[in-house]
Amino acid sequence: MAFDVQKIRQDFPILHRQVNGQELVYFDNAATAQTPQPVIDAIVDYYSTTNANIHRGVHALSQEATEAYEAARQKIQKHFNAVHPYEIILTSGTTEAINCIASGYASILQPGDEVIVSAMEHHSNIVPWQMLCEKTGAQLKVLPMLQNGTLDMEAYAQLLNARTQLVFVNHVSNALGTVNPVASIISQAHAVGAKVLIDGAQATPHYKVDVQALAADFYVTSAHKICGPTGVGMLYGKAEHLRELPPYQGGGEMIAEVTFEKTTYADLPHKFEAGTPNIAGGIAFGAALDYVNSIGLEAIATYEASLLAYATAALEQLPGITIYAKDVEKVAVLSFNIEGLHPYDVGSILDKMGIAVRTGHHCAQPIMDYYEIPGTIRASFSFYNTKEEIDRMVEALKKAITMLQ
Ligand code: ALA
Repeated sequence: MAFDVQKIRQDFPILHRQVNGQELVYFDNAATAQTPQPVIDAIVDYYSTTNANIHRGVHALSQEATEAYEAARQKIQKHFNAVHPYEIILTSGTTEAINCIASGYASILQPGDEVIVSAMEHHSNIVPWQMLCEKTGAQLKVLPMLQNGTLDMEAYAQLLNARTQLVFVNHVSNALGTVNPVASIISQAHAVGAKVLIDGAQATPHYKVDVQALAADFYVTSAHKICGPTGVGMLYGKAEHLRELPPYQGGGEMIAEVTFEKTTYADLPHKFEAGTPNIAGGIAFGAALDYVNSIGLEAIATYEASLLAYATAALEQLPGITIYAKDVEKVAVLSFNIEGLHPYDVGSILDKMGIAVRTGHHCAQPIMDYYEIPGTIRASFSFYNTKEEIDRMVEALKKAITMLQ
């Protein structure tokens, strides 16, 4: 069946609004993807018919809400092929998921232990590990990147040793779009007895991820990157690793028994889910996965690759353009600069023409330092974008070059 982008666009109400008097062109999908009507309906439906606290009440609403929330957890488990539903911890997003693991290892790591962080990480996959190293005396080692926008895998092999406890790498770089060789990174880490956390926030919107096939120890992502709502995400962890870690937060629902002498903790997943969660968000996360699966992630990846090829060829015609990580395996993200122009100024002109891109360091300052630039202009495409929209961006960039040079 042909990929019917115009039909898909009908599912996204926001794509039909105007910005600055122009039809919106939304190319900031790596920051937040837009929300289709079935996901919006899941949120409205939950608050209209089922709103109650979960895991607590004997009454009908509480039970229905609990069933819907746990059904969403099972959808997420199946989508990512975790062995058990209780290996899926629902968090507020990728950042909280990473902090949960970093906090857990604060009582396990010892001075002299080493952890490896890639040079291509989002700040959310750097700062929690720096904080962990400060607390424990472990040493943070950096897996360097190369000029072409990939990781230096020779350096990685050199960094790994018997002291390496943990490795943190993104599956796809948010700033460049590079797809990293995570299966190989994981197997090499396992060979020295280290565990690996993969930040999948930028991969899961584009690929079907199988955590068992990857043999990931921990895999994290956010719903809002995959057409779900903000404020909810996933921490997948192998059950044996999650059981080894202490709880991240104390509170209701994460306990087995509380006395003033001693509190015992609930089993997975509740040990890591203190307090009332984002119930509507969790249910809508499940609806978002249903939605992208109804289109098919393979069809999405093929279509997005055609957008990327089209946009790359068009942008290459512009004078003074540098596209970062151009010739590597990547998702539909174009990170670029135009000689003599500040990314912020270009982004502001595009916005005046109704075109949304992200500009700046993209919460990945080490990448910008590596290229010795203040930031880039990032156009990140989704399966509901079109070649006509790319044409509009190219025309707008030509105008920006004329106006700013
Ligand atoms: N991590 C998000 C981005 O890359 C916010 O824009």
